[in-house]
Amino acid sequence: MKKLILLLLCSVMLVTFIAWTILQDQPPLPEDPMAGARLFQEKGCVQCHSIDNDDARIGPNLSRVHLKGSLLDIAGSMWNHAPLMQQYMVELRISPPELTAREMANLTAFLTAYQYYLKQLGRPGDPERGRQVFQSKNCGLCHSLQPEADPREIGPNLHGYSKLSPIQIAQAMWNHEPAMAEEFIRLGLPLPTFEEDEMADLIAYLQRAAVPADAEPVYVEPGSPNQGRVLFEQKGCSTCHAIRGEGGTPGIPDLGQRRTELVRSVTEVAGFMWDHGVAMQDKMQELEVPQVRFEGNEMADIIAYLYFINYFDQPGNIQRGRELFTEKRCTHCHSTTPGKPSIGPDLSQSPVVGSPIEIITAMWNHATLMEPAMAARGIPWPRFEMGEMTHLVEFIRAQRESSKE
Ligand code: HEC
Ligand code: HEC
Ligand code: HEC
Ligand code: HEC
Repeated sequence: MKKLILLLLCSVMLVTFIAWTILQDQPPLPEDPMAGARLFQEKGCVQCHSIDNDDARIGPNLSRVHLKGSLLDIAGSMWNHAPLMQQYMVELRISPPELTAREMANLTAFLTAYQYYLKQLGRPGDPERGRQVFQSKNCGLCHSLQPEADPREIGPNLHGYSKLSPIQIAQAMWNHEPAMAEEFIRLGLPLPTFEEDEMADLIAYLQRAAVPADAEPVYVEPGSPNQGRVLFEQKGCSTCHAIRGEGGTPGIPDLGQRRTELVRSVTEVAGFMWDHGVAMQDKMQELEVPQVRFEGNEMADIIAYLYFINYFDQPGNIQRGRELFTEKRCTHCHSTTPGKPSIGPDLSQSPVVGSPIEIITAMWNHATLMEPAMAARGIPWPRFEMGEMTHLVEFIRAQRESSKE
């Protein structure tokens, strides 16, 4: 229970941080961190979605669904599901909730923070699959999991690892990666890389291998993105890596450019860092930057930071947005030539079209009217894949900008 309260407190702090950033160059900052949670009640979302328990409701439990992608992707998934949601609302006599842009920002911020702290962190690995990873990646050649020391062992005994949390194990692997890499080379073994859940599974196996089955599992600690931001400087990451064009060294990846690899579970991101660890260490030697080692909760903090900065949207691609506007058949009802008559309003003149979040809020609010108009013309409800919404809104924004000139 204490753990849950701690997690909830962290999410509350985070919602302020996220909602602030979403609206940074936009309307006034939302100051009330609980706004998103309250809206979830007020707007009737709770009538159909549970979030903290598994009560059967009409809609999916939103802490269990993997709401992938950026802010606009999450808002986009609400749009994708709008027709069915609204059909149920009619049946249940709930009036479809109208949202302001700020409310939409608060709601998506709330869902993301919730997602991160209660889902991404808690996603348990599968120890049985982890055993296979342990074998296939040759860990057993150098490490024993048995309590008694094995004289043939090259690396340290990993027996005690059952008492560490997943991120601490990943952190120990990162810290020892340079020395391990040397051993791999010496024995002519390939350096292992990790895909998707492999790191989580491996860790679950290391945790489980030695403990009695009824022991309490050790969870991942929640990282603090704000602390991570500080560490990113202190550890020298910012010497090499830019964040959205700021800082860094040319030729080294910018870590703020909407990297979907970084908007994943904590263990996946740790695996991703491991995969690039050796190349990074080489670069550190070349540039005479001290080796990066982590202690305590530091890796968790850095990963939380990388997660949340990548969750915000980068400006989309206008040309791709123009194609999507046609592909998704928006052009059937919305003219792109100013002054040309059309069924829906001219979006370049619309007063509700401004920031990306305003556009998607307007789409959500008009879904009730757009849906029957589409159905009448045999147009299927347009659904958006990850990333598509960003391009689309960029195109709509550009149209508005050019009509002002
Ligand atoms: C009348 C019931 C109802 C209400 C009220 C409702 N929803 Fe839904 N919601 C659903 C149903 C049913 C689905 C699944 C629809 C589908 O599969 O297309 C859904 C799907 C979603 C999804 C997509 C989940 C996924 O699998 O990707 C999100 C996000 C969502 N709702 C958020 C909200 C929010 C936020 C509110 C409040 C503003 C809300 N919903 C209000 C019934 C409802
Ligand atoms: C070629 C031999 C070798 C292989 C294979 C190997 N390791 Fe290691 N490992 C080492 C050595 C040597 C060290 C100690 C490095 C040091 O002193 O910094 C080490 C250290 C570690 C540590 C830190 C232990 C500590 O002291 O805290 C962990 C955790 C670890 N390895 C996990 C793994 C996992 C998981 C795999 C499989 C993916 C693996 N190792 C594969 C040789 C190996
Ligand atoms: C000395 C320069 C240097 C430092 C310091 C450094 N990195 Fe890197 N990093 C690199 C290089 C070079 C690559 C690309 C490696 C490759 O191609 O495999 C990289 C790759 C990465 C990647 C994978 C990016 C991708 O998209 O391929 C992540 C994540 C990452 N670094 C995180 C960090 C973090 C977090 C820190 C600080 C704790 C850090 N790095 C410190 C040089 C550095
Ligand atoms: C079948 C016709 C039709 C299609 C197809 C259609 N819309 Fe609409 N759209 C409308 C109508 C009608 C309205 C006005 C509804 C209202 O007044 O509430 C509207 C309103 C809007 C608004 C709010 C504008 C304002 O000024 O209030 C936005 C934004 C919007 N649509 C975007 C889109 C996008 C993006 C697509 C493609 C994914 C799309 N629409 C597809 C008919 C359509």
